[in-house]
Amino acid sequence: MDSIRITGGMPLSGTIAISGAKNAALPLMACGLLTDERLRLSNVAKLADIATMSQLLAQHGIEVTPENGRLALGGQITSTEAPYDIVRKMRASILVLGPLLARTGEARVSLPGGCAIGTRPVDLHLKGLEAMGAHIELENGYVHATAPRGLKGATVVFPFISVGATENLLMAASLADGQTVLKNAAREPEITDLAKCLIAMGAKIEGLETDTLTIEGVKSLHGAAHSILPDRIETGTYACAAAITGGDVFLENARAADLGAVLTSLAEAGVVITEAENGFRVTRANGLHGVDITTEPFPGFPTDMQAQFMALMTVAQGASLITENIFENRFMHVPELARMGARINIQGASAIVRGADHLTGAPVMATDLRASFSLVLAALAAQGETTISRVYHLDRGYEAVEQKLANCGAKVERVA
Ligand code: UD1
Repeated sequence: MDSIRITGGMPLSGTIAISGAKNAALPLMACGLLTDERLRLSNVAKLADIATMSQLLAQHGIEVTPENGRLALGGQITSTEAPYDIVRKMRASILVLGPLLARTGEARVSLPGGCAIGTRPVDLHLKGLEAMGAHIELENGYVHATAPRGLKGATVVFPFISVGATENLLMAASLADGQTVLKNAAREPEITDLAKCLIAMGAKIEGLETDTLTIEGVKSLHGAAHSILPDRIETGTYACAAAITGGDVFLENARAADLGAVLTSLAEAGVVITEAENGFRVTRANGLHGVDITTEPFPGFPTDMQAQFMALMTVAQGASLITENIFENRFMHVPELARMGARINIQGASAIVRGADHLTGAPVMATDLRASFSLVLAALAAQGETTISRVYHLDRGYEAVEQKLANCGAKVERVA
């Protein structure tokens, strides 16, 4: 298993190109199940999760072919089963459920089960599909969904906001009979990107960027070409990297508007963001100050940035109260950060971070995707050497981490 070795203390300086968003690419790839024609996706990052999704689609009969830095998806659905062996690697596999059901009237998808950051049920996905006329049974760890006469449009009011359930139902509703209205829908930029691609494929969707999506089902969808939006979480993560090292980094392709509350919180902490046409620059005027954050659905502070912001706060002046509202077990990075000298107390869903004078390098272990980057950030700022093990978590969602950091002067290497 690979680990990453970082010698801290170098301010990052240079340009980092932001890759295409992982969390947009995964549902967009599932759109390959909605048509017989070719779907061409560009700005796709090279990530382990994208490879897993390609493997899952291949199992359904959809070939995913790399074509000049793009992905071309095409083929006929030959199997409607998403097996446990693939789904257990990546929860987002559940995104094939809606498209398979809408397209073929049948799907058998393994239940994702728990994961490191909480129980993460899929009840909202299932209830929404039931409201659209699907019959759902849970058997032997699988969701077996059938809709022999096709899905019917329905009004679905989500009791709380779910990104995945909104995506699954949006894709399913595009091919349902009649009108579907999704209320209290997620409005993350990845949802808007998905809706744009579906519209390019012939779907009729209104209400983009709002919490109510109205979909007029169509009989079939056609091929399209779509360029994936830049990854807002990768953007926020590298903004934290520039800030924690007191560096000066230009984030190329970054879209400030997609960062929501992250930019406001960074600014409050003393980070200076200067917008340009093709990205923004991140610098720091003076020291960092403690800022309180609470994770919320977009445009609130994203849960996927919580661990990285916490790392930043470990060396800020004063205290920071960090409250995690989306997932129930998302503080696994805390004991690892503590091994590097961070002063953090957890009280239920909140963590109090008291800024330390400095962090020191230590051997630490990555526990989940975003948590692993919080350790990278701490390592970049720490005195001495840090070795982060289990970096496969990092490879799921961050493209070319070592190259991007090393190009800006970081002392970082991958150790096999
Ligand atoms: C997506 C993102 C993930 C991000 C999360 C929240 C992808 C591939 N993943 O995950 O990186 O952290 O949004 O922004 O885009 N829930 C239920 N029942 C359901 C569905 C969700 O109880 O049927 C709960 C979850 O356990 C969680 C909350 O709702 O507590 C939000 O989850 P959701 O928005 O669905 O997250 P994902 O789509 O899984």
